[in-house]
Formats: sequence, C-alpha cells, structure tokens
Amino acid sequence: MKTIAYKEFGSTTVLQTIEEPKPTIQDNQVLVKVKAVSINPLDWKIRKGEMKLMSGSKFPKHTGTDFSGIIEETGSSVTTLKKGDEVFGVVKNNMKEGALGEYVAVSASLVWKKPADINFHQAASIPTVGVAAVMAIQKMGTITPNTRILINGAAGGLGMFLLQLLKLKGGNITAVTGTNAINSAKSWGANSVVDYKTEDVLTKGTTYDVVIDLSGTMGYKNARKIMKSNSVFINPIPGPIDILTNPIKNLFRSKKHIVLLSAPSERYINELLHAIDNGLQIEVSKVFPFTQSKEAYEYAEKGGIVGKVVIAVN
Ligand SMILES: NC(=O)c1ccc[n+]([C@@H]2O[C@H](COP(=O)([O-])OP(=O)(O)OC[C@H]3O[C@@H](n4cnc5c(N)ncnc54)[C@H](OP(=O)(O)O)[C@@H]3O)[C@@H](O)[C@H]2O)c1
Repeated sequence: MKTIAYKEFGSTTVLQTIEEPKPTIQDNQVLVKVKAVSINPLDWKIRKGEMKLMSGSKFPKHTGTDFSGIIEETGSSVTTLKKGDEVFGVVKNNMKEGALGEYVAVSASLVWKKPADINFHQAASIPTVGVAAVMAIQKMGTITPNTRILINGAAGGLGMFLLQLLKLKGGNITAVTGTNAINSAKSWGANSVVDYKTEDVLTKGTTYDVVIDLSGTMGYKNARKIMKSNSVFINPIPGPIDILTNPIKNLFRSKKHIVLLSAPSERYINELLHAIDNGLQIEVSKVFPFTQSKEAYEYAEKGGIVGKVVIAVN
C-alpha cells in the first residue's frame, strides 16, 4: 500500500510516498481503508523534530493522527464494529505512527461510527481538536453568561469546536483571529472579535475569567496581564516544564496555568457527536488529494486557515 513517510526531520520537502505492506491486525484492532486524514499542527511539529524527546529519532516516520474510512477487517475480539462500517478515529501513538496511508490498523477502542449526515472529510476533522475542545471546557469550571472567556487563535481547528461548544454553555466569548476569519468566528459563537493583525488584545483593558491560547503567541506570562484574580489560563501547547511544574505552582497563585492534553475516548467523542447532531458545524476549508499531501502540508503550515485542511486518500 502507499503511505506518506519521512526519513529525516525537516520541512515538507522530506515527505515522500513509499510502498509498504498492508498492516496486519491484532485481536483488538481493526483494519481501516482510509478515506481522509485531517492535518493537525502537531504533525509538522513532530516532522520538524520539535518533539524529539517523545517521538524519538527512528525512521521512517509516518504522519497524521485523525482519519476516517471504512472497516476492511476486524480482529477476533472486536464486537462493536464490522466490515463495511463507516468510521473515524485516531492512531494510538502519533509520536510513533501515522494514519496518512491507504490503510491503517488501530485499536477498535479508538474508532467510532461516522454519523450519516457528515462526510468523511468532516469526520476526519473531529477527534484531536474536538476532544481537546471538550476537555478545555471541563477545565474552565462553571460557565455562566457573565463568564468572560478569551480564545486567542480562535479560527483554526480547535477554535472552531471550542467556540461552538462554549456557545452552548452560554459564556461571553471574545475570539482573537486574523482578518479573514472574523465572520467565521462570529458565526461559530463569538460575542466579539479582536483582529490580531490590527489590534493588541493585551492592551485593550478588558480582563477575563478564562484565557486559552491556541496560537502559542501569548503564553501565560502575557496572559496574566488580562486575567482576573481567580481565573485560569489554559495551555494546549505546553512544554515538559509546564506539565511538570504547574500543578505545584498553581497551589500558590490565583491565576492558574492549566495544561491541556487531548485524549480521545468514547466519552468525549459521544459528547461531540451529540453536539454535531444538534447542529455543530465542521468547516473543512480545503481538501487535497493524496498525491498532493506535500502541498496540503505546505498550505496548512502557511496559516490563514479557517477550520480544517484535509487530505482525501481513497
Ligand atoms: N494539547 C492538546 O491536546 C492539543 C490538541 C489539539 C491542538 N493542540 C495545539 O493547539 C494549537 C491550536 O490547534 P489548532 O488545530 O486549532 O491549530 P490552528 O488551526 O493552526 O490554529 C491556530 C490559530 O492561531 C492563529 N494565530 C496565529 N498567530 C496568531 C496571533 N499572533 N494571535 C492570535 N492568533 C494567532 C492562527 O491564525 P492564522 O492562521 O490566521 O494566523 C490560527 O487560526 C496548536 O498548536 C496545536 O498543536 C493541542
């Protein structure tokens, strides 16, 4: 089968199509004929060698975490899925494996049935960012109509889910986006939008109960300036030191710094499926064919994307 892999860390130029044997499955796994893979920033952070501590440096490496497709084969202990089911899911360890290929073998516990009213491109866009959005909201505590929430970098994959899920909870949301994404952020539920290309949210004089930085450009140090006391900063792009030290540091400060690590599971996916059933929109702004996987990553890495970029495989 054809798969996208790389044999050294680097820019999109290291990506290549290689032939590999079709994966074999274990008893608890399913073999999925991949229809689509969505792009996440983590894909290129791993490829550029920014996550070496976790990914190791063994090559070839594969890419892509979130996929959708059709079940081709099930392991002997799998009872919840059958050949022909339309599904979406995630690879277990995106530091060591990738979904961007014609087939992927994964644990059945990380694969869910695709709702009939969304397409494969949309389904492949759900798991990592959708679950991160649900988990982020849990970390925000009680949300009332008066809770002021700032989402910095609100128009990408995670922001799209977060804005719409938060809107259902009733918070007062300020979204920071580029000029091109202002209307999308409003339509997803932002009460107000700050255009980061022309304004600086740090100097506008408003303070927040919750700040979440999806762009990685603000950081806790800056966010503190616009956080109320007894507020939280949610960080989906933590370094190892943040992960290790913040639980202790938070004991002694009223402006908490909370790390977010997406862990897709049935419980969170069910919450997302319920929201999708109730009208949550999944915007896929561009779809590339498998043969243009390199171009797809070049496009996504340039930024300015609203929602998700997807690679259609089969
Ligand atoms: N910890 C976890 O479990 C977890 C899970 C999912 C994602 N993540 C991470 O969370 C981050 C967001 O994910 P994503 O999929 O939403 O990424 P994304 O689609 O790339 O979104 C990031 C957004 O930040 C915006 N941005 C860039 N510069 C900015 C600035 N100076 N001020 C404000 N906004 C700015 C970008 O807008 P423009 O493109 O218009 O510049 C973009 O819309 C990524 O770093 C990702 O790796 C973590």
